[in-house]
Amino acid sequence: MKKLIVKGARELSGSVRIGGAKNAAVAIIPATVLARGKCVLENVPEICDTELLLEMLSEMGASIRKIDRTTVLIDTTELNSHIVPYELAKNMRASYYFIGSLLGRFGKACVSMPGGCNFGVRPIDQHIKGFELLGSEIQIDNGLIHAASQSLSGAHIYFDQVSVGATINVMLAAVRAKGLTVLENVAKEPHIVDLANFLNSMGADVRGAGTDVIKIRGVDVMHGSNYAIIPDQIEAGTYMAATAAVGGDVRIENVIPKHLEPISVKLRETGAEITEGDDWVRVVRRGPLKKVNLKTMPHPGFPTDMQPQMGALLTRAKGTSIITEGVWDNRFRYTEQLARMGAHITVDGKVAVIEGVDSLSGAPVHACDLRGGAAMIIAGLMAEGTTEIEDTLYIERGYEHVVEKFTAIGADIHYQVLPERDMAEAR
Ligand code: EPU
Repeated sequence: MKKLIVKGARELSGSVRIGGAKNAAVAIIPATVLARGKCVLENVPEICDTELLLEMLSEMGASIRKIDRTTVLIDTTELNSHIVPYELAKNMRASYYFIGSLLGRFGKACVSMPGGCNFGVRPIDQHIKGFELLGSEIQIDNGLIHAASQSLSGAHIYFDQVSVGATINVMLAAVRAKGLTVLENVAKEPHIVDLANFLNSMGADVRGAGTDVIKIRGVDVMHGSNYAIIPDQIEAGTYMAATAAVGGDVRIENVIPKHLEPISVKLRETGAEITEGDDWVRVVRRGPLKKVNLKTMPHPGFPTDMQPQMGALLTRAKGTSIITEGVWDNRFRYTEQLARMGAHITVDGKVAVIEGVDSLSGAPVHACDLRGGAAMIIAGLMAEGTTEIEDTLYIERGYEHVVEKFTAIGADIHYQVLPERDMAEAR
């Protein structure tokens, strides 16, 4: 058990290198099942979620070898199980991508109902609709999803709701379905395009990823491939928002600036200066923070996964800002923690009204989910005094080497390891 101890009110400066995209990696690792062979994945982020997925693959019979810190060889030749280990999968959202890839490889899959961050109800009806239209039967009992099909056939699937997860899961099965699959009203996030590129590098025929319509011609055989995962848009955005929030001058390296545009636009409105190179952005903020209004939307809109970090930043902006959450029912739980630090925020359903205050004060808080945890770090860095953040496991699920990276840009942040007993008393 550990806490993050953050001491605030210190400008950030220097440079930070961004890792591979979590939400691409958690789709691409299960996708390796589709090849009966070896894949070498580069730029795999060193986070709990990728480690867990690799462990699941290993228990199912794949051989996993780390070539270096972020490169991993996955050999799925001997993978012979369509059952994903329940204990490893149950707390994780992305474990359900094995439904698509195992259906594609074996015509059957058994995976626990997905876990993941709590943003209210997280239905999977669009995944099920897609699998059923491809010719699979789906049953849910005792917390397990069973999928089975004699043979998958291409289909025309119109999603009722734009969903990253459903787009990915159905793509994973459709690459092996007979004939043409047309997916309409799909998600367009950079990780959808990255997955399509990876599948094509394995011999699939996927076209149109990044637009509203994806066309997939099923293939009989897929093979291993070497592939480098794109940089993490949200990790980069988090360091950008932290710099804008705290002030200073930070260069964020190994990014695709185009993917960061929706974030850069809003940060510029807050008063930050942002310059871009081929694979870096530089954020400088010297003057006062200005209020902004924003609404989260599917890509290319402002990403919901950056909403809590912006919420933290805006607590100190001059004037009143309004954030509207356009993707999830309940993604404002972190605001209660910010209030403990002196923030003035009123939440009504999907809208948060943030009245900027002159200062925040350090307090004991907790990470209520992954990005809510990132918001606590940013608030802690802005605050006077010391902030102690509990439940850091959420943060480690999505941010690699978060202490080292923030320390490298001048933040005063470290872990405090507590014995179980002290942690229980601290609650
Ligand atoms: N939805 C349905 N039915 C479905 C699926 C989704 O109604 O079958 C609804 C959801 O309730 C939500 C909306 O559609 O209101 C969008 O959900 P989506 O399926 O796009 O989200 P997800 O695939 O469960 C991924 C990311 C999230 C990110 C969202 C939106 C992964 C593993 N997770 O979740 O990332 O917030 O897309 O961009 O890729 C994070 O990284 O912090 C994170 C939570």
